[in-house]
Amino acid sequence: MSVGIEKVGFYTAPYYIDMVDLAKARQQDPNKFLVGIGQKQQSVIPPSQDVVSMAANAATNILSDEDKQLIDMIIFGTETGIDNSKAASMYLQSLLGISDNARAFEIKQACYGATAGLQMAIDYITLHPDRKVIVVGADIARYGLNTSGEVTQGGGAVVMLISNQPKIIQFDGRSTFYSKNVMDFWRPGYTKEAKVDGHYSNDVYIDFFNRTFKQFLQKFDLTINDFSALTFHVPYPKMGIKALRSVAGEDDPSMESIWHEFHESIIYNSRVGNLYTGSLYLSLISLIANSDTLSAGDRIGMFSYGSGAQGEFFAGILQDFDNSKLKHAVDQIINNRNQLTISEYEAMYKQGLIDAANTANDLSGDSSRFVLKGRSDDKLIYRDQEMNIDF
Ligand code: HMG
Repeated sequence: MSVGIEKVGFYTAPYYIDMVDLAKARQQDPNKFLVGIGQKQQSVIPPSQDVVSMAANAATNILSDEDKQLIDMIIFGTETGIDNSKAASMYLQSLLGISDNARAFEIKQACYGATAGLQMAIDYITLHPDRKVIVVGADIARYGLNTSGEVTQGGGAVVMLISNQPKIIQFDGRSTFYSKNVMDFWRPGYTKEAKVDGHYSNDVYIDFFNRTFKQFLQKFDLTINDFSALTFHVPYPKMGIKALRSVAGEDDPSMESIWHEFHESIIYNSRVGNLYTGSLYLSLISLIANSDTLSAGDRIGMFSYGSGAQGEFFAGILQDFDNSKLKHAVDQIINNRNQLTISEYEAMYKQGLIDAANTANDLSGDSSRFVLKGRSDDKLIYRDQEMNIDF
């Protein structure tokens, strides 16, 4: 019985800032951001996009009408919820026209939510091999203007179609996980900006990676050499570098190829920034879209981390997959964004913090198919700009 990722889609908003501009505006040495953090650019999410519209934009080009009829579950991982009660998946279901005979719900555990959803999807397809599940990881990472976390902001969505036709990655259900109640990063209900104990969060991340990775090797009698690549949750590229360094020396010749693949896996993250639940999966996309040295049958390790904290290590086998379409689609989304000045970004960021019973978003700069029009009498209104329909 095969189960895994049949299709994958990505979206980020049509704006970005350059990290050299941000460093200059914050009186920092640009190399702190470019080298110390490893970030080159950062997506800026306008008020016309939220996790629902971003997920719909990520999914729209990958799902066929047949897929929409076969989907039994829409699992939406996010920590940027749009309502304290109603799940983002309900809106997504109608925007995408997915069958009403589906379970639709949201999962929250910081950046880990999409992985919880993925594991649930794998279990479900194992029992119901003729059905499909979509798993979403969509978020907007906000720490506040002029904070030390600002350089690690970003946002976007990854959508995966899980089925018994794993055309991209096949999973075998093997994973190791570890959780503990810690205060490394959290977001109180009254604010859209995260609170973080930054250096402590790095330590917890490394600790959870080492625990779950070493447990995985021991439990399944493997060594690091059994992996062609290791991918990570990437809050910022240097975090992944630190994690990989903890198990693979950069100067060790036997680790050369794992480091080569790692650098392919952070190409997109270094231009988009943190997208919380979607970050590990954007890194996986970056690896399989950009690497020309991986081949079918290669084992790819995946470390998922959600502050608070939950870690999980698992692995998948790369399938015989033509990556050219995926690479073209993702490159286009990232390359076609418009660059903002820091003052334009600051204005957009502040607008994104505003919420009221009635709002109307400026849609003029956003030609994405799905947008958030605003709120009317406390109800969110989305728009399909291609079909001219409001939801
Ligand atoms: P900071 O304290 O401003 O930075 O914030 P720093 O002083 O630690 O410097 C960063 C690095 O730049 C250091 O390198 C410096 O040496 C270097 P390191 O020692 O780490 O290797 N540096 C320079 N390099 C070259 N040229 C220079 C230069 N100057 C300094 N001139 C911090 C950094 C990451 C703490 C901050 O941005 C932050 O709090 N970010 C948010 C938290 C975060 O991303 N944590 C990651 C682990 S937790 C996680 O992944 C979960 C999360 O995604 C949320 C969720 O689960 O929902 C965040």
